[in-house]
Formats: sequence, C-alpha cells, structure tokens
Amino acid sequence: MSGNPRILILGTQGQLGIELQRAFADAGEVTAYARDFCDFSKPETIRKTIARVRPELVLNAAAYTAVDRAESEPELAMTVNGEAPGVLAEETRKLGAQLVHFSTDYVFDGSKDAPWVEEDPTNPLSEYGKTKLAGERNIEQAGGRYLIFRTSWVFSPHGHNFLRTMLRLGQERDRLNVVNDQSGAPTTAAALAKATREAVDFLQIRKSDEKNEDSSGIYHMTCAGSTTWCGFAEAIFRKSRMSGEKPWPVVAGIPTEGYPTPAKRPKNSVLSNQKLLDQFGIALPDWDLALDETLKALDLLSGDQAAMKK
Ligand SMILES: NC(=O)c1ccc[n+]([C@@H]2O[C@H](COP(=O)([O-])OP(=O)(O)OC[C@H]3O[C@@H](n4cnc5c(N)ncnc54)[C@H](OP(=O)(O)O)[C@@H]3O)[C@@H](O)[C@H]2O)c1
Repeated sequence: MSGNPRILILGTQGQLGIELQRAFADAGEVTAYARDFCDFSKPETIRKTIARVRPELVLNAAAYTAVDRAESEPELAMTVNGEAPGVLAEETRKLGAQLVHFSTDYVFDGSKDAPWVEEDPTNPLSEYGKTKLAGERNIEQAGGRYLIFRTSWVFSPHGHNFLRTMLRLGQERDRLNVVNDQSGAPTTAAALAKATREAVDFLQIRKSDEKNEDSSGIYHMTCAGSTTWCGFAEAIFRKSRMSGEKPWPVVAGIPTEGYPTPAKRPKNSVLSNQKLLDQFGIALPDWDLALDETLKALDLLSGDQAAMKK
C-alpha cells in the first residue's frame, strides 16, 4: 500500500460500515459505498466498482445479516454472502490489493465446550451460517491477500441489534424472557473497527520493515469475555439509566426451546482470540466495558456506572 492508499469501504450504512468509516477516516483516500452504489445481490456491480476505484485496500462490511429471514431467502443470502465476496476477492487479487472481510461465529455448530479456534471444523446450523462459510471459502480460493475476521453478537448505538431491541422492549414490558443457554461474546462495531485499523496499520508497518510475510487467513475477532443473551440483557438494564418513569423490566432466563426461531443457533459460539493476539498483538476490550462505552455514546450510562468508571 502507498503512503496515502486508496481505500474502498463497502456496506457503509451498517453497524460496522459506519464505524469503519470513522476508524479509517485519516488512513488514506477513502471511498465509501452503500448498497445503492455497489449491490452485492448483483456481483457484476462489484467488478465495475473495483475497476473504477482501483483500491489498494478494500474493507467489506456489506452482508445479508437477517439470520432468520435467510431461512426463507437462502439464494439471495448466498449471492450476497457467498458469491459476492468471492468476486470481490478475485478483483482485489487482480489489483494486488488487500481485502478485509468479516464473517461469523455461526459457521460453528456450538457443540464445543471451550472457545472455538480457527482450525476447528465448521458446521453451520443455519442458512446464514452456510452462506457466510461459502464467502470465506470463495475468498480463500481467489488466492489474493485477505484477512477474514470472524466476529459475534455485534452491537452499536445504531442499526438493528440486541442492545437496541432490549432498550426498546424495556420501555414497553414489565418482564422479558431471554434465552440463557446460548453463550457468545457481544462485540461492539467500534471495537471491531478499531482492531481492524490496528491490524491494517500493523501490516503496513511490517511491509515497510520488509518483513513481508503473508498474514492472509481467518482470525477470530471478538470482545473479551462471554455471556448468554440473558446475561447480556441483564447487564444492559443494570447499567442503563431509565429514560422515563417506568422501571426496567424483570429479565427471566429461558431455554432456547422457549423462544423458537426459524434459524437454529449454536449453543456455544464463544471464539478464542489467541491467534489475533499472537499474529497482530491485538486484543479487544471486555464486552462489559464495550457495553459501557456504547451506553455512554447513547447518553444512557447510569450515573452509578459512570461514577464507578471514574
Ligand atoms: N450483526 C451481528 O451480530 C454479526 C455477528 C457476526 C458477524 N457479523 C458480520 O459482521 C459484518 C458486519 O455486520 P453488521 O452488524 O454491521 O451488519 P448490518 O448492520 O446488518 O450491516 C450490513 C450492511 O450490509 C448491507 N447490505 C445488505 N445487503 C446488501 C447488498 N445486497 N448489497 C450491498 N450491501 C448490502 C446493508 O445495507 P442496507 O443498510 O441497505 O440494508 C448494511 O448496510 C457482516 O459481515 C456480518 O455477517 C455480524
């Protein structure tokens, strides 16, 4: 990459896309496209976009992320999450550019009792997981320079996510039943974007040091620690100040069977981040601290929590 690289960010209106634009604002000459400029359901538009921008670095945050809807739209999800990333990888390889792509904990079946490592066998339970796995494989097969960061339970102050759903339901209900037998690591889009910037900077510095071995591969990248959806909900209400008169709801843990969804989800999808630490020296904050930061950004961190942080 040059000193002022041409950077293309795709999927710019999603949780991660918004944060990547912030994290890379001063990293080079940034072109940022949402779906209306580069539609992954029509992979040919990707070839045209790459030919026009001629990026040295591509950050892809575009994805079909509606996990349950993917069960009834598997072809569209496969085009967006499987086929399109492969086309993107082919085009970036032709330019000798670096691709950064994001994948999911849902490539695993959740059957392991310990955190999943990159080499563990994949076995997605859902159409979404299958399409994301196809995307990983197509990128690998394209043979260029790529980083695939598998992450989990992404949330941020904007977009569709569990935090915002809980805050909304918390205003409406006195009691919430939340699944307490699926474990994972809630991860903020901001922490992901910051870590991605650190990884890219690391590669650039190493390139100028001429220790230019290829770091291409799959890396797990989540916040530290883990919880259940129920534990996440409890933390949200414990840490948030109420914005009206109504007290926050009682949160009751229920088994997965008590909340049937079209897509099956893994019981344990906690990922080990050791490889990321070993290769890049990068560790994301604990999910609990990342939650505080997000509540602070929403001006919802309770006075108690804010005081504890001082
Ligand atoms: N969210 C999670 O919990 C989670 C968990 C694990 C991994 N991940 C992965 O992390 C990455 C970022 O996810 P996120 O949470 O930022 O997702 P997000 O908020 O849903 O954003 C996804 C973005 O992709 C765009 N998109 C959807 N279909 C498209 C298409 N056909 N062409 C172009 N763009 C399209 C969406 O555009 P519109 O705004 O127009 O809809 C949206 O801006 C994804 O690779 C996702 O698979 C997410």
